[in-house]
Amino acid sequence: MSSFESKVQEALANPKNQGEIPDADAVGTVGSPDCGDMLRMWLKFTEKDGKRVIDRASFQAFGCQTAIAVASMATELLRGKTAEEAKILTASELSGDLGALPPMKIHCGQLVEGALRNALDNSDPSPQADAASAMAPTLASDLHRKRAGKIRIVPLD
Ligand code: FES
Repeated sequence: MSSFESKVQEALANPKNQGEIPDADAVGTVGSPDCGDMLRMWLKFTEKDGKRVIDRASFQAFGCQTAIAVASMATELLRGKTAEEAKILTASELSGDLGALPPMKIHCGQLVEGALRNALDNSDPSPQADAASAMAPTLASDLHRKRAGKIRIVPLD
């Protein structure tokens, strides 16, 4: 077993933050039409030192083990981050201790990144953001553009 696989197995033996946060401030759901996997992420914010930071993040995955392992890592390391800090995290940063994902598994990390971005997009308290997120095609086209020609991660209702 490669060290990547054993780290995935380790994360799966004790996955963190699985399941819904009932009073979440934001929810993001994405799917990969290529593998059929889906991932939903919940975020709960709190005020700390005058900043709005993520208090808890949780997930539910209908997908492969790598996506679950990355989501488990990601939801741990999101705690204490502002929305702005969380927004710029890449899939490989979200993978934490798992390290670089093998080429076949890169989209599994992108699924987690996509769910986070989708949740953050839905969490902006300004009314304009509500209007923007109601126009889902904006986000969809954004995601499509970034993954142009390769892997599609699409937001789901
Ligand atoms: Fe599709 Fe991992 S195989 S998310």
